[in-house]
Amino acid sequence: MNEDTNTAVQVIGLSKNYGDVQALRGVDLSIAAGEYFALLGPSGGGKTTLLRLLGGFIRPSAGQILLHGQDVSEQPPNHRPTSMVFQSFALFPHMTVAQNVGYGLRLRKLPGAEIAERVGAMLDLVGLSDLADRMPHALSGGQQQRVQLGRSLVLETDILLLDEPLAALDAKLRKDMCLELKHLQEQVGITFIHVTHNQEEAMTVADSMAIIADGELIETGTPRALYETPRRRFTADFIGENNIFTGRVSAVNDDGVEVDLGYAKLTLNADGQAVTTGDDVAVSIRSELVELLASGTAAGAAHQIMAATYGEAVYLGLATSHVATLPNGEAILARHISRGEAPDALAAGAAVELAWPRSMMRLHLS
Ligand SMILES: Nc1ncnc2c1ncn2[C@@H]1O[C@H](COP(=O)(O)OP(=O)(O)OP(=O)(O)O)[C@@H](O)[C@H]1O
Ligand SMILES: [Mg+2]
Repeated sequence: MNEDTNTAVQVIGLSKNYGDVQALRGVDLSIAAGEYFALLGPSGGGKTTLLRLLGGFIRPSAGQILLHGQDVSEQPPNHRPTSMVFQSFALFPHMTVAQNVGYGLRLRKLPGAEIAERVGAMLDLVGLSDLADRMPHALSGGQQQRVQLGRSLVLETDILLLDEPLAALDAKLRKDMCLELKHLQEQVGITFIHVTHNQEEAMTVADSMAIIADGELIETGTPRALYETPRRRFTADFIGENNIFTGRVSAVNDDGVEVDLGYAKLTLNADGQAVTTGDDVAVSIRSELVELLASGTAAGAAHQIMAATYGEAVYLGLATSHVATLPNGEAILARHISRGEAPDALAAGAAVELAWPRSMMRLHLS
């Protein structure tokens, strides 16, 4: 067999319908063994559906699932190399922390001594040794989450599926637990597949990630690649804060692509994408790359300049977002790190010029 042992998950043409609802449409995806992989996307996009298909809790309507090269499409959960951390799967309230963690091993009827040893090692790993005899109701949210993790990890499967594992935690704890999860994955070395609709969470934990929306796999890549060089317009819109222009390609030449917005022309590099004159396209530029210039400031050829009307400054703590209006009435955002001083007072209605590096614009065909 020519199975690729470096591939933990390979999904081919995977679809799932619930009655009339097409929850997943022909998804192709491959996840390397030992990778921390995040599935990110808006609510209702199909993330949980994909995770449940991988775990064997539901059957595909079409397509194939290979785990470590084996077709498991028709296998039940306990015949797959997976275990799952459910978002709302509560701990057994009448069992201690240690009993909760050991539950799956007792189901497997392992000898008591082995269970005790493995549970002890797992409690160490997830930082719960001191709480082994506590009951779940006497634990904080973060501690309960750790018990859940321990309960899944102790089974020593090759692939851990995590559905919104941090959703119940407050923002600060969530941040801490994100890094803990990442370090835990590095320690145990198995494949983690982590579902979230929180962008920062996905970017914190993931080696690679996929954007899923409307049952479609939109794009995969490293967090950096998806942030800095998104191919799809949806990705540019979903991750970070992007200004997105829509227009038509008016020229393609050695210098790049010219896109006519009606009120201005953008010149940028095509990034190897096949475009022709007349194509409807979108162009994105991240708000943190947009500079605000007083009107009339000269800028080099490396910069795209655009006239706008200043609107207002919105103070966000870490950053201040400047809102201006383009000639077509749409808003454009320039976001800059706040440095403890009020931004230069620009009056609403003032004519300003916005500038950004041409090389940082991204072209989106769809
Ligand atoms: N058992 C079901 N019966 C019918 N429709 C379902 C069922 N489960 C999910 N759906 C639908 O399938 C689509 C995808 O649902 P899914 O739970 O996979 O989304 P999700 O990306 O996990 O969303 P969230 O971020 O809100 O958890 C949604 O439109 C949902 O309403
Ligand atoms: Mg879900």
